[in-house]
Amino acid sequence: MLDQQGYVRSWNSGGERIKGYSQDEIIGQHFSKFYLPEDVEKGMPELGLEAARTHGKYEAEGWRLRKDGTRFRASIVIDPIWHDGQLIGYAKVTRDVTERFEANNRLIEAQKALVQSQKIEAIGKLTFGLAHDFNNLLTVVINSLDMIAVRPGADARTKELVDTAMRAADRGALLTRQLLSFARGQNLVAERHDLNELLARSMELYRRTCGPAVEFRVDLAPNLPPVFIDAAQFEASMMNLVANSRDAMPRGGTVTVSTCLVHRAESDSEDRSQDFVCVRVGDNGSGMSPEVAERATEPFFTTKDVGKGSGLGLSQVFGFAAQSGGFASIESQEQVGTVIQLCVPTAKD
Ligand SMILES: Nc1ncnc2c1ncn2[C@@H]1O[C@H](COP(=O)(O)OP(=O)(O)OP(=O)(O)O)[C@@H](O)[C@H]1O
Ligand SMILES: [Mg+2]
Repeated sequence: MLDQQGYVRSWNSGGERIKGYSQDEIIGQHFSKFYLPEDVEKGMPELGLEAARTHGKYEAEGWRLRKDGTRFRASIVIDPIWHDGQLIGYAKVTRDVTERFEANNRLIEAQKALVQSQKIEAIGKLTFGLAHDFNNLLTVVINSLDMIAVRPGADARTKELVDTAMRAADRGALLTRQLLSFARGQNLVAERHDLNELLARSMELYRRTCGPAVEFRVDLAPNLPPVFIDAAQFEASMMNLVANSRDAMPRGGTVTVSTCLVHRAESDSEDRSQDFVCVRVGDNGSGMSPEVAERATEPFFTTKDVGKGSGLGLSQVFGFAAQSGGFASIESQEQVGTVIQLCVPTAKD
């Protein structure tokens, strides 16, 4: 019970359990003590009493403070108490609905994730169908080009044109393979590769992904040992990293792709140490807050608008690194930039 001004007049064990004050501590204190400072500043306690007085009842839900300073989600009801037409105080009932509130929030999050994954599944099906048909068309194009190339009597200019068309068709075939592997969630097909060579092959693609506002720099370490990886998945990882850097620099900046050799000792035994070839994609964009960096690799975690990001980029990169026997890491500072490192083990004989 509160008096006309809102001072606590009586208290029960439920109040003690939820809010942590004993009867002796709280009687005589103003009930605004239970409100967050910012709500007190807005005059919420007084507004509640006034609403109860004028409308006969006041109900609300919001955050309140316990004695130990922690917050809980409260559902409150305030009833005015009249005696012979005189207001003599208020009856206030508080329920702790934190658990219901949080369960509800979790449900909403889960529903959002479900919608996202259904969307991805639908995109996957569509992609699969299109990529499949496209691949068949490309096979016809490539076979025909092959036949033109071996026909006798072609002049040099024709040969050049056929070569160009062939390169474009090969590129198209690579793209459809990537689309197919995305749509199927295909297993990795690991082969021996020189990482620098793989990068050089698709450098134009990455450069184009960056767009004109972003400077694109490359710094490849020479003579790297070969690695054993799935080239299409590696290319997809690079695309994801470069696209993330571009998105983090809407007003321009620099993306740097570099490679190096890293020696990592596992525990302290020298014979279980291993060499990794690492590629780093760095930018001087917005960077990530510690909270974002912590969750960035979760599938479907995105800070981008609906339709702009599905939150699968980094989870693909980290998944690919782990499946290839390597590892990946994030280094990021807000307003400074981000470096993502992707390391894969060097191929053994
Ligand atoms: N280079 C970066 N700079 C700043 N923030 C980044 C960078 N890379 C990733 N992030 C943050 O991590 C989040 C998750 O990245 P991720 O690539 O997994 O998903 P996305 O880019 O949001 O969507 P998708 O890649 O599926 O289109 C991003 O939404 C962004 O907040
Ligand atoms: Mg991304």
